Amino acid sequence: MTLEANQVQLANDPNTIDPRVFPPTARRGRECQQLKLGGIRATELTQQFGSPLYVVDEDAARARAREIREALQSEARRVGTEATVYYASKAFLCVEVARWMAEEGLAIDVASGGELAVALKAGVDPARIGFHGNNKSVEEIARAVKAGVGTIVIDSEIETERVAEAAAAAGRVQRVRLRVNSGVHASTHAFLATSHEDQKFGQPLSEAPRLVRAILNHSSLDFVGLHCHIGSQIFATEGFRESARRLLSVYGELAEIAGRPIPELNLGGGFGIAYTSDEADNAPEVAVIARELADIVAQSAQDLGIALPKLAFEPGRAVIGQAGVTLYTVGTTKPVQLAGSDAEQDPAERDFAERLYVSVDGGMSDNARPALYGADYQVRIANRVSDAAPALVRVVGKHCESGDVVVQRDVLPGDVQPGDTLAVATTGAYCWSLASNYNYVPAHRLLRCATAKPA
Ligand code: LLP
Repeated sequence: MTLEANQVQLANDPNTIDPRVFPPTARRGRECQQLKLGGIRATELTQQFGSPLYVVDEDAARARAREIREALQSEARRVGTEATVYYASKAFLCVEVARWMAEEGLAIDVASGGELAVALKAGVDPARIGFHGNNKSVEEIARAVKAGVGTIVIDSEIETERVAEAAAAAGRVQRVRLRVNSGVHASTHAFLATSHEDQKFGQPLSEAPRLVRAILNHSSLDFVGLHCHIGSQIFATEGFRESARRLLSVYGELAEIAGRPIPELNLGGGFGIAYTSDEADNAPEVAVIARELADIVAQSAQDLGIALPKLAFEPGRAVIGQAGVTLYTVGTTKPVQLAGSDAEQDPAERDFAERLYVSVDGGMSDNARPALYGADYQVRIANRVSDAAPALVRVVGKHCESGDVVVQRDVLPGDVQPGDTLAVATTGAYCWSLASNYNYVPAHRLLRCATAKPA
């Protein structure tokens, strides 16, 4: 959700740990009032491992993975089909996380040879890996085919030939999907939307019959169905439903071309999550998305008189986002008067005469999302509570760039000071994976807190 859209009422108590944005197990210790993650004090973690520190709550990640898989699979069963749930590993991948996901019954979606290598290293069954990307190299394709990857998503005509050749050379028949654009414009940030026609991913849906014919010409390819991903961080469910309906509308024609029913339909990921307490009431529930999608697929198949395909989904952010917390140490603070400042004052900031800039020891190199998408986050002091009057804060990093913002706007107790530990919620998805080397700041450390061992 963008900042413009986020006309928030800032929280009354800036000490509260909201279990809807922090991992559900995060809480303040009864005596010390310090934030605990997985039962371990945040300050104990930063003392042991330093900061900035990415912390991933294993229990939270596993529970959410299970919840999402069960919701999508039980709804698929209800309408008479089945569903495979891939974890979109681009959201956050390391060997540990890949292993957790596999153990929780999720398949893994990878988008590069690097992600594939991590998934294989984690011992993920290659048959449960899906390989994506609009520019997979010939070497990456050959490696994936050789490894026995379950499905490769073909993104262009050139790739049909490349995958067919690699499969023939390896003496295999490779299962493939065709990535198409449904033309549905999901309501999200423009950079996160992927199913418009004028962008790099996939092929127009109208081209599907021709492209599927080309795939079927290769005896080394087994065409299993269409794939579509309409975008990311989507709150409204209509886009998912409309996209599913449009994809199915060509399944009859494709079945005629293939001389058999098309067995699968992959609807991608993109389920939105709340990054701040204000968003929490509007974030879509996966159970609702699952039910609505199962209904629309079953109804459309019936209306069109086609066989009900098996379903596949690829959530990333919804699985791992809330399990992650980033811990920082405050270095400096600096008040800036708001009256007469260039920016037109936001209604949510009207009660404040100044904004306190709070500089931490990380920044856009560990979380590029505010700079890239105007993403918003929630921050709390982890090492103590305070009844000092709330201050309007902007948490900024230590990079040489004014857009180096971690939390654009929140309130913290006004006595926030150098040495405090800050916890920024919901940093599990697309933070570690988008991290950079900017200013050689990063000594990003990654930790899972279930056992407090470096991952
Ligand atoms: N499947 C495909 C084909 C995708 O391209 C993506 C995300 C996903 C699944 C998973 O989407 P999710 O469920 O995580 O929304 N860096 C951006 C997000 C880019 C998403 C790219 N593709 C961000 O930080 O918001």
